[in-house]
Amino acid sequence: MGPVDDIVRPGQTISSTGYERRAGGKGANQAAAVARAGASVNIVGAVGDDGAWLVQQLKGIGVSVGGVTTVQEPTGRAVIQLTKAGENCIILHKGANYALEETPAQILNNLKGISHLLLQNEIPWPTTLAYLEQAHAQGIVTVFNPSPMPSDAQLRVFPWEHLSWLLVNEGEAESLLRVLHTDAPAPALPRSGPRTRWYHDDAVAFDGSPAFKTLKNLHNHATLATVNIVCTLGATGVLASLPSVNTPLYVTAAELRGNVRDTTGAGDCFTGYLIASLMELPDEKLSTANALKILKRSAQAAGMCVERRGAMESIPGYSEVDARLE
Ligand code: ADP
Ligand code: NA
Repeated sequence: MGPVDDIVRPGQTISSTGYERRAGGKGANQAAAVARAGASVNIVGAVGDDGAWLVQQLKGIGVSVGGVTTVQEPTGRAVIQLTKAGENCIILHKGANYALEETPAQILNNLKGISHLLLQNEIPWPTTLAYLEQAHAQGIVTVFNPSPMPSDAQLRVFPWEHLSWLLVNEGEAESLLRVLHTDAPAPALPRSGPRTRWYHDDAVAFDGSPAFKTLKNLHNHATLATVNIVCTLGATGVLASLPSVNTPLYVTAAELRGNVRDTTGAGDCFTGYLIASLMELPDEKLSTANALKILKRSAQAAGMCVERRGAMESIPGYSEVDARLE
């Protein structure tokens, strides 16, 4: 829903100053970002009869859409309020994706020849779990962006040990920590080496910041010990805690050319670029230098997404991203 002066408050009715229909959904945006980053990507999901344009748009961007089924449900939809200041507020109708029922054979088939699996929480929960389990069993790199946030009960029994990467924003990281800690207090895991060094000049500002503590606590939780955790912090940048690198990493947000236009989809753009960059890594070799390079590239892409209006439409292509990094 086009621009609004302010996000609506309880009891209030407001008019927007415009109306725009744009392609979206986290899965769709992230798949589009992987494609824009130059990597090959299939999307699995469902649309209704009203969703053909969306599938066409993804195809146009270079996403393989053979895994998209058409079902007798309206396509998932988000109603977004966007203020002139670039703030947004989203109401989601889950729609067709939740009518998607896949057999184990279909899941196996969709995973054939796949190196990386990226999951959001936009399909039935049992399907998410089935994909994760199968992918893990086959040595596929598994990535989860838990958005919308699963229920507390679902999070508590989630098979984190099957997960290679957890991608969250600050709010998601806090929710997750709250849930995991209520149920099982984090045992202090012995980790090799100190985890207080930072690879950035601003590091000192982050060591001890709430986001840093959240990430550290999350990572010290036993079930998450082997998971690479990346936490985006909006305009503040990105934090990462990667077991193989053994040092928390921080990169600043990209320097913008001009003002913030629209932050919708910035996280998805970041995610797509991160996956595409991981796909380019030979044998998942995650040195500190590699990890920083990947994080910076993803943050650069996300920053360019913020400079432009729209979500999927504003995802930059790899050549413009890489040019800005030079
Ligand atoms: P989400 O959209 O999922 O909530 P964030 O708001 O954390 O995710 O944004 C994801 C990434 O997008 C950030 O880590 C940052 O790199 C980039 N980004 C977001 N907002 C800005 C901004 N105002 N300026 C520059 N980069 C931004
Ligand atoms: Na944008």
